[in-house]
Amino acid sequence: MKQPIRISLAVITVAVAVAVAVGAFGCGTLDNPPITMEPDWDTPRTRELAVTACFDCHSNQTRWPWYTSLPIVSAIAANNVHEGRQELNFSTWDRPQKEATEAGEAIQEGEMPPADYLLLHGEADLSPADKQALVAGLRATFTRSPPLGGEGGTTGGKDGGEGGKDGHDDD
Ligand code: HEC
Repeated sequence: MKQPIRISLAVITVAVAVAVAVGAFGCGTLDNPPITMEPDWDTPRTRELAVTACFDCHSNQTRWPWYTSLPIVSAIAANNVHEGRQELNFSTWDRPQKEATEAGEAIQEGEMPPADYLLLHGEADLSPADKQALVAGLRATFTRSPPLGGEGGTTGGKDGGEGGKDGHDDD
């Protein structure tokens, strides 16, 4: 009779310890580094769709909802976002984006946005028409404005140094 209580106490203690440890690592990483350059979007609509469905994990304009400051959630969310930014970051278009050309495919295959994210972010669950518009828009955007320094088939900096495009206010 005492045994179960002791076991559950032990479980709770371990859970709390893990939560504290993970929370300690996770805290302070809910960051939004500076936007150095965005692609030259083909239309404002493409950007709007990308903001809705992709920017939380693939830009430096992540909206961090309150629950992402909870222990564990914070670590998971931060980790997700940092991984996402490493693959593709619309806010640092002056740097190589190794996965840019995969974006259309990732959307079409239903791989992106991730299913668990959609549970909490219904607005990012785009209609089939919006998905198609985003796929086409991203392709057009990447063709006219490949990331500087990598992926997307540029061979030279034809638009080298043409002042940071920083406008993020076009709704
Ligand atoms: C909840 C966060 C999140 C959202 C929202 C999200 N992604 Fe991702 N994305 C990730 C993470 C994490 C990775 C890296 C790990 C992986 O591949 O699953 C990734 C990887 C990718 C990759 C690399 C190749 C691949 O398929 O793994 C592409 C391309 C991509 N995302 C595009 C998009 C696009 C386009 C959107 C919007 C329609 C989007 N993502 C929305 C988190 C996200």
